[in-house]
Amino acid sequence: MLKDAQGLEVSTNSHEAVDAISSFTNQALSYGKEALNVVKQGLVFDPTCAMLHAYAAAYFLSQENQQAKKQAVPHLRTAIKYSGNVTEREKLYIQAISAWATKKIDVAIALHETITDKYPRDLVSVQQGQYHYFYLGDKQRLLNIAQKVLPQNEDNHFLYGMLAFGLEQCHQLDQAEAMGRMATSYNRHDPWAHHAVAHVMETQGRIDEGIAWMESLADTWVSCNSMLYTHNWWHIALYYIERGDYLHVLQLYDTHVWGRARKDSPKDQVGAISLLLRLELRGVDVSQYWQSLAVYLLPRLHEHALPFQDLHYVYALTRAGYTDWANEMRLSMHEHALSLSPNQRRQWLEVAIPAARGLVAYANGEYLNAFINLKPVLLRLHEIGGSHAQRALFEQVYRSAMHRVRSGRDAINRVLIMIHPRKSKVIF
Ligand SMILES: [Fe+2]
Repeated sequence: MLKDAQGLEVSTNSHEAVDAISSFTNQALSYGKEALNVVKQGLVFDPTCAMLHAYAAAYFLSQENQQAKKQAVPHLRTAIKYSGNVTEREKLYIQAISAWATKKIDVAIALHETITDKYPRDLVSVQQGQYHYFYLGDKQRLLNIAQKVLPQNEDNHFLYGMLAFGLEQCHQLDQAEAMGRMATSYNRHDPWAHHAVAHVMETQGRIDEGIAWMESLADTWVSCNSMLYTHNWWHIALYYIERGDYLHVLQLYDTHVWGRARKDSPKDQVGAISLLLRLELRGVDVSQYWQSLAVYLLPRLHEHALPFQDLHYVYALTRAGYTDWANEMRLSMHEHALSLSPNQRRQWLEVAIPAARGLVAYANGEYLNAFINLKPVLLRLHEIGGSHAQRALFEQVYRSAMHRVRSGRDAINRVLIMIHPRKSKVIF
């Protein structure tokens, strides 16, 4: 049986199809923009290759929007159709992608764990497992799934990048930086390793170092998909926000973030929204930016791919003046919550939906309302997914609302004390 570049057996007689699988692995691990193209090229040589169809399905599912999800379905069906005589690993992988497609994330995770226990060289499965753990906010298992396959992959810098991100998420910052730097020293073209180090430097407030690190590697990101290209530049923009260079942040927004985004991509949309909101929190007027972004959010209203993404959308829709869409989305979030399993339902009803209320209130300038809705969910934000850097945004909104409420209260108190020096005081 033929083997791919990782030494994993592949059920096909076509060398070109196997080459395509090796290329897909490289594209997936390097967040390359040719991932789908290499799969398509492989399918020309073997349209019955179950694994190539499963990778195509995984690619479309990772786009996290309904249209792409529909495109995943025929590939998944074909993968299942031709899975009769494939290897155990391939069968497990196809089952994992099927579980993902039907939102059985716990099942998908269990399958990726089994694959990586039995076939530790399958780094696409490690990456897939980390993806699910990331959105579940399960940072420890995100790290564990990479750590357990290290002995079999000491030659692979991409695994070091995955480890670096897991270590960073678990606040093991020194080890994370060392691992990310080591990956980059083996191969400069490892954008996920760059990203992990960027997180460390941001957490430690090493702004100038962060800019120097990321800008020195940015030339390698031209081969990245728009998700990581725009996200790595988003991290650079965050540093410039910390420096107070807001004009440069807006230039980056126009050139490397929203300017280079796939306008229909949820991840790219979330990054751009997050950047504008962070600028607003610093008092920068970005009101003219919201409409040109929010007009692309209509397909998101009933999608509910990830709760933390929905929080961004409702904020952007409200700021853009699309109040009807924002209301429709919040109603839809509620209906979606009721359709979920008890655990997931609790996350939506007790965390995501109150947080959405708080963000809409903040967008409308109703700071007391924002404060009241955000305060109870702060300690549970990790349940709705996203990285520390991404979730920190909601804490910043909360703090801003609290500050504005207190400022307003103090101003009212000053007036009341002038009118009734002894009796009056507003307390909340
Ligand atoms: Fe990040």
